[in-house]
Amino acid sequence: MEIIHTVAWMKQVAEEARRSDRILGLVPTMGALHEGHLSLVREAQKQCSPVVVSIFVNPKQFGPSEDFQKYPRAFEADRAALENLRVDYVFAPPPDEIYPPGFRTAVTVDGLGDTLEGRSRPGHFRGVTTVVLKLLEIVQPRFAFFGRKDAQQVRIIQQMSADLNLDATIVVCPIVREPDGLAMSSRNAYLKEGDRRAAGVLYRSLEAVRREVSTGERNATRLLASLRRVLDAEPAVSRDYAEIVDADTLEPVMALRKACYVLLAARVGNTRLIDNALIEQAGDSFTVTL
Ligand code: PAJ
Repeated sequence: MEIIHTVAWMKQVAEEARRSDRILGLVPTMGALHEGHLSLVREAQKQCSPVVVSIFVNPKQFGPSEDFQKYPRAFEADRAALENLRVDYVFAPPPDEIYPPGFRTAVTVDGLGDTLEGRSRPGHFRGVTTVVLKLLEIVQPRFAFFGRKDAQQVRIIQQMSADLNLDATIVVCPIVREPDGLAMSSRNAYLKEGDRRAAGVLYRSLEAVRREVSTGERNATRLLASLRRVLDAEPAVSRDYAEIVDADTLEPVMALRKACYVLLAARVGNTRLIDNALIEQAGDSFTVTL
C-alpha cells in the first residue's frame, strides 16, 4: 500500500493507472475509519482496481463553531485497517496541498444544500462539494463510492456530477449499523456511555416509521408523529429535524412517493448525529430500508 501526500504524485499515479486501462475507484473519507467506511472500500474493491482511499479532514465543511479541531484523527489505525484490506493507495494530503494560500474557488449546488443539514450547518455542503470535486479531478476515478448514511450529501454530489458532466459513476452504499441499530459514525466516539445507550433511539424511531408503513400508513404527518413519539421520549436526545422528503428534490412530501427519505438529525449530549431511512415503492406497497 502506498501513501501519497501530494496532489502532483496522486495525479501521476492515477494517470498511469488509467493509461494501463485499469478501473480506478475512489473512496473519499475524513478518516477515523469504521466499518461503514470499510464497507465502501470493500465495495470499491469488488468493482475496481486499483482503489484509492482519501483521508482528508476538510476544514471547509466545518462551521466556525463546529468540531474541526477535535474531529477524531487516527491515521495509524486507519493505515493499518486499509493495509489489512490490501488497499492500493491512500491519498492523505496536508491541508495546504488541497487549499494552498490564495485558494478562492467554491462549488455550490443551488437549492439542495440549503435545507435540512444545510440549514443547521450553513456552508457545509459548499465545503463538501468543493473538496469532492477537487478529489474527483485529482484522481479522475471511473467509480466513486459514498454512503447512504449521508443521504443529502449523496444527492448533492450526484447533482454536481450531472451538472458538471463529471465522468465518475457515483456508487451509493448501504448504511452500516452497530448491533443496536445506531448508524456507524466517526462522531460516535464522542458519546459518553449513557448517551451512547440513548443514541439507539434514533434507529428505533426509524423502525417505528417502518412499522407504520408496513401496516399501510402513507400520510407523512402521521408517520412523523410516530417517529417523534419514540424519539422525544428519550430525554438525553433533542431533535434537530425529522422530515420525509422526496428523494430527488429533497422537498417535504405530504404522502409517500415513489422514492423518499425519512431524514433525521438529533443532538445526544454535545454530539450531533444524523440517520435516515429510504422508502421505495414496490408494486402497491412501500419498502423501508434502514
Ligand atoms: P466521512 O464522514 O468520513 O464519510 C466518508 C464516507 O463514508 C461517506 O460517503 C459516508 O456517507 C460514508 N459512511 C459514513 N458512515 C457510514 C455508515 N455507517 N455506513 C455506510 N457509509 C458510511 O462524508 C464525508 O466523510 C465527507 O463529507 C467527504 C465526502 C469525505 C468529503 O469531505
